[in-house]
Amino acid sequence: MSTQRPLLTTTAGAPVGDNQNSLTAGPRGPLLLQDYQLIEKLSHQNRERIPERVVHAKGWGAYGTLTVTSTEVTKYTNAKLFSEIGKTTDLLIRFSTVAGEQGAADAERDVRGFSIKFYTEEGNWDLVGNNTPVFFVRDPYKFPDFIRTQKRHPKTNLRSPTAMWDFWSLSPESLHQVTILFSDRGLPVSPMHMNGYGSHTFSFWNDAGERVWTKFHFKTKQGHKHYTNDEAADVIAKSRESYQEELYGAIDRGEFPKWTMYVQIMTQAQADALAFNPFDLTKVWPHADFPLIEVGEMELNRNPDNYFAEIEQAAFSPSNVVRGISFSPDKMLQARVFSYADAHRHRLGAHYEALPVNQPKCPVNHYHKDGLLRFFASNKNIEAYYEPNSFDGPVEDPRFLEPPMEVHGLAKRWNHREDHEDYKQPAALFNLFTAEQKQRLFNNIAGAMYGIPSFIIDRQLGHFEKVDPAYAAGIRAALAAMDPQHEANKTEKDVDAMALHPVG
Ligand code: HEM
Repeated sequence: MSTQRPLLTTTAGAPVGDNQNSLTAGPRGPLLLQDYQLIEKLSHQNRERIPERVVHAKGWGAYGTLTVTSTEVTKYTNAKLFSEIGKTTDLLIRFSTVAGEQGAADAERDVRGFSIKFYTEEGNWDLVGNNTPVFFVRDPYKFPDFIRTQKRHPKTNLRSPTAMWDFWSLSPESLHQVTILFSDRGLPVSPMHMNGYGSHTFSFWNDAGERVWTKFHFKTKQGHKHYTNDEAADVIAKSRESYQEELYGAIDRGEFPKWTMYVQIMTQAQADALAFNPFDLTKVWPHADFPLIEVGEMELNRNPDNYFAEIEQAAFSPSNVVRGISFSPDKMLQARVFSYADAHRHRLGAHYEALPVNQPKCPVNHYHKDGLLRFFASNKNIEAYYEPNSFDGPVEDPRFLEPPMEVHGLAKRWNHREDHEDYKQPAALFNLFTAEQKQRLFNNIAGAMYGIPSFIIDRQLGHFEKVDPAYAAGIRAALAAMDPQHEANKTEKDVDAMALHPVG
C-alpha cells in the first residue's frame, strides 16, 4: 500500500486518527456523546437521500454531444447551437420511466422520459420530452389526477389497473397515447432502441422577428427493439437494472449510441388552416404535410462518474429555453414551464442551477441572492447587488428579446373536450400496425385490463370501438380467451354503473 495516500479528515478538514473504533468508556461501552466523528458519520448517512422525483423517479443518464449536419433550420431560428455545420454542443441526457419509484424494474411497460440538457454558449436549453410524440391529457389541470392513477392506491399501496382504466375511459383524449403505450413501442429493450420527442409544439424565432411553430424529433440509429410482456418478465426476473446495464455498458465499451435530430415546421398560416388544434398535445403533425427537416446527430459518449451527483441531482426544466427557441400556446407546456423549476427548488434547493451538473457552461450573472445551496462566490463587483445600479452590474440586452406572440380570446375555463377529435389519429396509428402487432396490442390491453370492473372495460371498449370496430373486437376476443366467463359473470352492479357512466 502506498505511503502517499491522502489523509482521511472530518468534513471540517481535521485529520481522523481512528476510523475503525468508536469512542467508549471502557472496552465494552457505553459510547461518549463527544465522539463527533461517529455522530458526523451517522448524521450524514441519515441525509443521503433527497426526495425522489414525484414522477420519472427511475432513470439512466449519460453525457454526449449534438453535432449539426444541416443548417436549413437557421432560416427559422437564431439559436446559436444550430448555426453552422459541424458545430458541436455538449449535452446531458436522462432517460426514465414515469410511474415506478427509484427501485422499480427498468423493463416495465411505461412511457419513457427523454430529457436533454444542451449546454449552449447562450445558456442551457432543456428539452424534457418522452419516447412518444403525444401525451395522455391535454389540460394540465388533469395531470395530477392522471398521475394518481399511475401511482399506488392509498389503501392497498398497490398499483391499481382499475384506477388507470377508470381514468382513461373517462378521458378519451388519452386514446392515442394508450394505443402507443400498449403497442410494441411501449416496452423498448433499452434507452438506445427508442426515439425521443419534444412532444409539445414549441416555437422558433429568427433575427427578423418571425416566429414559426416547431416540433422536435430524435430518431434512434440503433433501430427499434422491443420486448413482449413475457420477455420483459424474464428480464426482470434476472435483473431489475437492465437499462442501466445496457446504457452504461455500451458507453463503457465505446459503442456510442446515436440519434438523428429533426424538426417539423408549421407557419401561422398553416396553423390557421389546420383541421385540428396544433397546440393539442394529444395530436401529431402528419409528416406528409410537415416533413422532417434534419438538424444534426446526437451521440452519447461519456458515463457520469457519480450517479447521484450527476443524474439524481440533474434538474431539467421546459422553462430553460435559449434565444431563438420558445414556447407556444400549448396549455400543458405552459404549466410545465412553472412546475419543473418549482419541483427542483423543493427537491434540490433554491440554487439548484449552481450544482455542477446543472451549471451552464457560459458566464452566469444574476441578482438572486441567498438560500439553500448558496455555495458559489459572490459577484466580485460587490456594490452591484441590485438592479438598476450605477456600479457596472450585469445589464439586459434587447438582442435577446423574443418577438411578441399574439394572444387573444375570452378568459374562461374552456372545455378542452369540446371541439377535439379524439378518435381519428389513434385510428390512423392502429391501421399502420401489422396483424401481428395488432394482436400483441390486443393481448397487452386485455392483460392490463383483466380483473377490473366490467363496466370500466365496457366503457373503454366503447372508445376503442369508435377508433375502429376491429380494435374493440380484438380486445374483446383477447379478454374472452383469458376469461370465457366474462360476460356471464357481469354483476348487476356493473350494469348499473355502466348506465351511470356511459361513453361520452
Ligand atoms: C418529470 C411535472 C407533463 C416529461 C417531472 C417532474 C414534475 C413533472 C414535477 C419532476 C421534476 C423533478 O423533480 O426534477 C409535469 C407536469 C406535466 C408534465 C405538471 C403536465 C402539466 C409531461 C410531459 C412530458 C413530461 C407532457 C413529456 C412530453 C417528463 C420527464 C421528466 C418529468 C422526461 C423527468 C425529467 C428528468 O429526467 O429529470 N414532470 N410533467 N412531463 N416529466 Fe413531466
